[in-house]
Amino acid sequence: MDALVVTGGRRLTGQVKVSGAKNAALPIMAASILADGPLVLKGVPDLRDIRTMGRLLGKLGVSAERKRGGTMVLKSPSRSNRSRAPYEIMKTMRAGICVLGPLMARRGRAEVSLPGGCAIGDRPVDLHLKGLRALGARLEIEHGYIIGSCRRLRGAEMYLGGPFGSSVTGTANVLMAAVLADGTTVIDCAACEPEVQDLARVLEKMGARIAGIGSPRLVVEGVDHLGGCEHTVIPDRIEAGTFLVAGAATRGDVTVEGARWNDLFGLVNTLREVGAEAERCDGAIRVCARRRLRSIDVTTLPFPGFPTDLQAQMMAALTTADGISVVTEKIFPDRFMHVAELGRMGARIRKQASAAVVHGTEQLSGAPVMASDLRASAALVIAALMARGKTTISRVYHLDRGYEHLEKKLRRLGATIRRVNLKS
Ligand code: UD1
Repeated sequence: MDALVVTGGRRLTGQVKVSGAKNAALPIMAASILADGPLVLKGVPDLRDIRTMGRLLGKLGVSAERKRGGTMVLKSPSRSNRSRAPYEIMKTMRAGICVLGPLMARRGRAEVSLPGGCAIGDRPVDLHLKGLRALGARLEIEHGYIIGSCRRLRGAEMYLGGPFGSSVTGTANVLMAAVLADGTTVIDCAACEPEVQDLARVLEKMGARIAGIGSPRLVVEGVDHLGGCEHTVIPDRIEAGTFLVAGAATRGDVTVEGARWNDLFGLVNTLREVGAEAERCDGAIRVCARRRLRSIDVTTLPFPGFPTDLQAQMMAALTTADGISVVTEKIFPDRFMHVAELGRMGARIRKQASAAVVHGTEQLSGAPVMASDLRASAALVIAALMARGKTTISRVYHLDRGYEHLEKKLRRLGATIRRVNLKS
């Protein structure tokens, strides 16, 4: 099993280029089921989750061929009744649920395994089902599978807010079904995340008619047919944000090329409040920290709020800030798996319900730690970069789900980091 060995204490400096967004690419790949022609996607990161989605689509008769330079060509057969998304694949990647809406809209049937449990807490799919049922889909849960059938879906008005706000993949699923429904659909409390916007833009290029992109109210006029198109996936704001936090946390000076200011303003604002300088420069964002960071209260919220997918990384940075910080999680209230592992490195964090109180300490010290989920792993890497001495992070397969060439990119910024194979 691979592990990362990091020797901390070096400031990160220089430039790094961000890859295409995993969480945009995954639902867009699923949208290929809707199209009559080929979908040519550029800027698709080479990541485990992307390969898993390719395998899942393969089970559904869609060919997903990776070309050179991050291009992927997806072709769905014009007629197919393949509709089974098996548990063996769905248990490893929750975004697999994004095939449900397209299958219902295009093939009128689906047998999609409920996705597996997840280290970051409960991840229900009730909003996905609510929206699709409003469009006329019959959906039952049997033996761990969502069994769906329908004739042509009908446009409807629906409210997709849940106890924690909107749902990103829920909105994506319902949007992908609504574009081929008969008549008008209104999705209220739609997720506004840039990844949902990117999906909507691809659907538009395929011929869909969608108003309100980027707002919480999407209005869709159903069409009879969607064609293929070409699209470049947006840059990954979470990867970019991870490098920006790492730059500030190591008191470095890092420019992230491709990072989009408007997608990251919640983070930029937080970095400024902790005392780092952050500026927008020609298609990039630069962060520079000259002294110890200040403590701050951070609350995760749906976009454009501070993203839950950067909570763990920000908490790692705050472990050595001057003062007491409170990090509150409003999207996934149990998403604190990283707290115990950061504690092994000397961080002083007390978890209280859906918040964590972080007492800043002067310095962390390297230790053997274990990654528990994708973003928690990134937090451990940031902590390791800040720490005195050597940290070994095991179970890095979590990181490989979401960060392309992470060690290489960090080494280019001056980090001492290498991958080793731990015989276990
Ligand atoms: C997506 C992202 C994930 C990110 C999350 C929140 C992908 C592949 N993953 O996950 O990285 O952390 O958005 O920004 O894009 N909920 C319900 N009912 C539902 C669906 C969700 O109550 O039917 C709740 C969830 O438990 C959570 C909140 O709504 O508390 C937001 O979840 P959601 O936006 O659906 O997350 P994902 O789309 O799974």
